[in-house]
Amino acid sequence: MGVLGLSSSSSSSSAGMVLVVVLGLLLNAAVLCNGGITSAFVRVLEKSVDMPLNSDVFSIPPGYNAPQQVHITQGDHVGKGVIVSWVTMDEPGSNAVLYWSENSKQKKSAEGIVVTYKYYNYTSGYIHHCTIKNLKFNTKYYYEVGMGHTTRQFWFITPPEVGPDVPYTFGLIGDLGQTYDSNKTLTHYELNPTKGKTVLFVGDLSYADNYSFHDNVRWDTWGRFIERSAAYQPWIWTAGNHELDFEPSIGETKPFKPYTHRYHVPFRASNSTAPFWYSIKRASAYIIVLSSYSAYGKYTPQYRWLEAEFPKVNRNETPWLIVLMHSPWYNSNNYHYKEGESMRVMYEQWFVQYKVDVVFAGHVHAYERSERVSNIAYNIVNGVCTPVNDLSAPVYITIGDGGNIEGLANNMTLPQPKYSAYREASFGHAVFDIKNRTHAYYSWHRNQDGYAVEADSLWFSNRYWDPVDDSKSA
Ligand SMILES: [Fe+2]
Repeated sequence: MGVLGLSSSSSSSSAGMVLVVVLGLLLNAAVLCNGGITSAFVRVLEKSVDMPLNSDVFSIPPGYNAPQQVHITQGDHVGKGVIVSWVTMDEPGSNAVLYWSENSKQKKSAEGIVVTYKYYNYTSGYIHHCTIKNLKFNTKYYYEVGMGHTTRQFWFITPPEVGPDVPYTFGLIGDLGQTYDSNKTLTHYELNPTKGKTVLFVGDLSYADNYSFHDNVRWDTWGRFIERSAAYQPWIWTAGNHELDFEPSIGETKPFKPYTHRYHVPFRASNSTAPFWYSIKRASAYIIVLSSYSAYGKYTPQYRWLEAEFPKVNRNETPWLIVLMHSPWYNSNNYHYKEGESMRVMYEQWFVQYKVDVVFAGHVHAYERSERVSNIAYNIVNGVCTPVNDLSAPVYITIGDGGNIEGLANNMTLPQPKYSAYREASFGHAVFDIKNRTHAYYSWHRNQDGYAVEADSLWFSNRYWDPVDDSKSA
């Protein structure tokens, strides 16, 4: 599916050319050993640099107490709710959101809350969160924030009602940061002709912690940077290690402090007890968000929640079961190698048992797609600990290639493991385009290509409705 690129020049009838191609394939196979494809795409490996504070993408909206960093996410379990968040800098101002549907000019108002926090020598602005409930499905709504002073207006479109054959398009972005490359990634996502309607974000947002004392001003700039997308379509949040902001040396000992104040998620709607693991339904997808940086061992809150959560997924209602986490389980890059291993040991059995369609993770600043494999036979004494093809297993996709300040992870394990179908150290984004209950078209787009170019792609067959072998790269 667009990954080999070997068939396009096959018109030559010269036997010499055939020999060259055969030799080339043999050499290629020798390099690849028994694994999938390691892309030989050559890019400039220059350092990723954060955009300066005075960049236009960080510009502060004019006007007294003007709302900034406006972003939305799903606000309930089924998509009839939206959480609107924004920051005011001069004074708290109003917590209200005015909203009205495209067809009805009657404005309604919802009341939110305001929070602030201090982090070392930084004091946040006034961070507002307002949940709008009981919206109509599949409807365009306008909304306005900043009542009483400078107001700003935005819009969003609610998803269709949850159902098994509802098409829906998700964008995938991870480890974004705020470099020139991050800006390219977001622009490419926005201009991708396959229009994503909701971003599934797999963690590591601002990378403010790369600055001295985790300069939280960089949380503010990041909020202004993503507003151009996140104010108009929901971003579904996953917590990454750069959200921890755990820094005892400066007295900051409460993990996730900036993240939890700034980015709210509807965790209570799925009976979760913490904002780091939760689920939502959206169109024909059931999305489970897990936390690589919260306890996940047996008896922990996350473990008990997930144990109770999987049986609730009804594939007749939501055929597509998608899991988001930050640290990947199947990653053949030397960077962060095996960091996800202990969580895999805890939960992989369930992922196979409940036939998860796809797992999206970030953390590793490169792209990788696995075949459908599992590694659940090992019982300490039997020595059976090699991943095997398993049609009940998910495809694992690492998409931590948003373009942050830490740069690309281009040091891969050799040889490429069998389970690894495709891997490449390039920045980019992906789109998961659900067509119906049986098929979804997935494509990954590297930033160096045109907006519509697919550097890797796959037709997904649903694990519940059409569990055929769909994950082979060749
Ligand atoms: Fe990370």
